[in-house]
Amino acid sequence: MSETLQKDKDTIDEGKRDFIYIATGAVAAAGAASLAWPLVAQMGKAADTLAAGSVEINVGNMIEGQQVKVLWRGVPVFVRYRTKAEIAEAENTDIANCPDPQTDAERLRPDNNGNLRPEFLVMVGVCTHFGCIPVGEAGDFDGWYCPCHGSHYDTSGRIRKGPAPKNMTVPEYKYISDTVIKVG
Ligand code: FES
Repeated sequence: MSETLQKDKDTIDEGKRDFIYIATGAVAAAGAASLAWPLVAQMGKAADTLAAGSVEINVGNMIEGQQVKVLWRGVPVFVRYRTKAEIAEAENTDIANCPDPQTDAERLRPDNNGNLRPEFLVMVGVCTHFGCIPVGEAGDFDGWYCPCHGSHYDTSGRIRKGPAPKNMTVPEYKYISDTVIKVG
């Protein structure tokens, strides 16, 4: 982990009691796969898939207003169980005023029944300016704030103010059950 990432991780973990870091078997497997790359590279397509890595997050026990962080392919992924007020704020934003216009729905993925689950926001928790890790429940738009150079993200993870050029990235993810999200 880079010095910057480590520093920001420490800042968040010390400052946010509801910020839960989850080390899962899937993460460990992804790490082992990358260490074994010279061998994996000779094992064909199935091995490529293994090396890419994925992580499964059980959101069944999360509570409204809670955020968890998992490591996926070496980067933090935020999963936030948004409050009703946060969802309303995200949905009612006039995206014409956003530097990187994107509706809240465009940042969500459907579950197995084809329903968007607006309570769960999933995104790569890395500032799109120079890669610091933003702090949650902060900033002028009640979302995330990057203290490195002052970027403000809203409750959908969209950049609203500051030098960051893009919204925080929504990773490839899907629901594999009502309560489990698979990233990657
Ligand atoms: S890295 Fe986030 S504002 Fe510069």
